[in-house]
Amino acid sequence: MITPGRLTQRACLAWRWRCVRHALSLSGLLEVVEWARNNCPGQFDDNAKYFDVDFQLYRNTAFAIRLGLHKGRSQRILDLGAGCGWFCVVARYFGHEVTAVDVEHELYTRCMSHWNIPQFVHRIRARTPLPHFGSQFDLVVGLSVCFNGHEHGPLWGVPEWHFFFEDLAQQTTPTARLFMTINAQSDGSYLPEPVARYVADRGASISGRYVNLPLHGPDHGRSVATTMTESPP
Ligand SMILES: C[S@@+](CC[C@H](N)C(=O)[O-])C[C@H]1O[C@@H](n2cnc3c(N)ncnc32)[C@H](O)[C@@H]1O
Repeated sequence: MITPGRLTQRACLAWRWRCVRHALSLSGLLEVVEWARNNCPGQFDDNAKYFDVDFQLYRNTAFAIRLGLHKGRSQRILDLGAGCGWFCVVARYFGHEVTAVDVEHELYTRCMSHWNIPQFVHRIRARTPLPHFGSQFDLVVGLSVCFNGHEHGPLWGVPEWHFFFEDLAQQTTPTARLFMTINAQSDGSYLPEPVARYVADRGASISGRYVNLPLHGPDHGRSVATTMTESPP
């Protein structure tokens, strides 16, 4: 079997990205950009990256390919902290059903309504159940996760992640996975050491900021106390 080299992979990614780009009608998005420019003073510099179409499509096509979404059967996907919805757009292009979750913000609502993507306005909180989404998801993603107290603290420890995983398991299929990209902390680390160990014990593969975790497993329902070899932080 021939294993594609890096250059071939890059060429495939660029080709996929071009396909997604050409399939999208981006003209209506200009109205959202104009609205954001006039209504999100001070925030627009940050939000500008949300409207860098080539960057967003390239980045999110890369995530979709990493997750195998460019081939295979249609999946039901939940995007937590979806922002302006670029991952949802790309996943839908590849034939998947997507539901977006984010905090209340008119920018996100306008984007989701432009893309026609079902949206739940909801703030994820530590040790608080998620709303009932009315679906069993095959895949949950959280890209550049902030809901774990990343910017406003306190940062989630093992009990908070345990609650979150168990809660997500209620609304996911038996083979469902959670894929997250974690924002770096000020010291450059991604997950606190006890959390990284706990997540790895649950069967996650962790590579730098990427975490890919099965949401169901034989030991997953056990309490944190019995799954930890030392006290959680
Ligand atoms: C860094 S942005 C990433 C947006 C998008 N996932 C992406 O990769 O482009 C983090 C997103 O998480 C959302 N967010 C932050 N705290 C949240 C919370 N507690 N519940 C739900 N969404 C949250 C923010 O509103 C923002 O859209």
